[in-house]
Amino acid sequence: MTWLVTGGAGYIGAHVVRAMVADGQSVVALDDLSTGDAARVDRGATLERGSILDRGLVRRVLREHEVTGVVHIAGKKQVGESVADPLLYYRENLEGLVALLDGCRAKGVDRFVFSSSAATYGLPDVDLVSEDTPGSPLSPYGETKLVGEWLLRDCERAYGMRVMSLRYFNVAGAATAALGDSGITNLVPMVFDRIEAGERPRVFGDDYPTSDGTCVRDYVHVADIADAHLAAARALDTGEPGATYNVGRGAGSSVLDVLRVVAEVTGRDTTPDMVARRPGDPARIVAQVDRIRAELGFCAGRDLVAMVDSAWTAWRAARDHL
Ligand code: WQD
Repeated sequence: MTWLVTGGAGYIGAHVVRAMVADGQSVVALDDLSTGDAARVDRGATLERGSILDRGLVRRVLREHEVTGVVHIAGKKQVGESVADPLLYYRENLEGLVALLDGCRAKGVDRFVFSSSAATYGLPDVDLVSEDTPGSPLSPYGETKLVGEWLLRDCERAYGMRVMSLRYFNVAGAATAALGDSGITNLVPMVFDRIEAGERPRVFGDDYPTSDGTCVRDYVHVADIADAHLAAARALDTGEPGATYNVGRGAGSSVLDVLRVVAEVTGRDTTPDMVARRPGDPARIVAQVDRIRAELGFCAGRDLVAMVDSAWTAWRAARDHL
């Protein structure tokens, strides 16, 4: 049995490939290398270069590698970019998903793990967000993830596919120094970038209704995210039905909490500049994680210090090579 991991040369995808290869799974990665790096792909896997939008390529890869299941991670994931260019997000994230599913249906591939997101929830007004909290995305990015889930649910009903949708919360860290997040679009790398430039980190708003006035998020180690994908894939391989799961720690950390950990880990001063709120930021979004623990036996075990420490090690390794 072979698993196809789309986006397998990306930050999260490469971690998923690494975890599945380590588990003894047969893995082929498909990536257009638009943001991915071929050097990230575990040597125990095969890399096919190209886009999921290339229907001929998708069918060839599914056929030649005798793919039996797909972990679909490839896609665009920047909230701000999606607001500026929604068609790019609908093309890559939804047209790409349809092209991939057409290939799966033609080749009889009926197991599918889908990379979804906490962005599907928008501004939840609850302490802990459960999978039954209504989706109300605020950005085209979040909309493409929610519509993707609906599309996959319809494929389950019509074609007998089994789908696990994993709603990631805030991903950080690195399993190895070579697999760090090369993007500077999320809090931890944005803080590293500022302190390395000798500038103060910026906090987008300190007047939120939270304990210290800054936004609270559920940060989860990328290695835990990868383990959750492995648990979902193995469940599908043993005949389990599809489901939707939050993937987080079930614990909230404020922006100031993160800055304190960055100071501890790096020894740098992270005294911030307090600046204006960023539009669309929920004050708090923290996952309820009971369902994935009860049904897949998965629990994210790595803490915020492990995330920041591993991210810093990878950040320094990437720049020491420059
Ligand atoms: C975290 C918090 C910022 C930078 C997004 C997507 C979500 C997921 C993760 C893909 C926020 C604050 C940030 C800075 C700051 N991506 N911040 N200063 O916006 O929670 O979630 O990325 O699935 O879908 O929506 O993540 O890392 O951008 O911000 O104060 O320099 O840190 O305001 O409160 P976010 P983030």
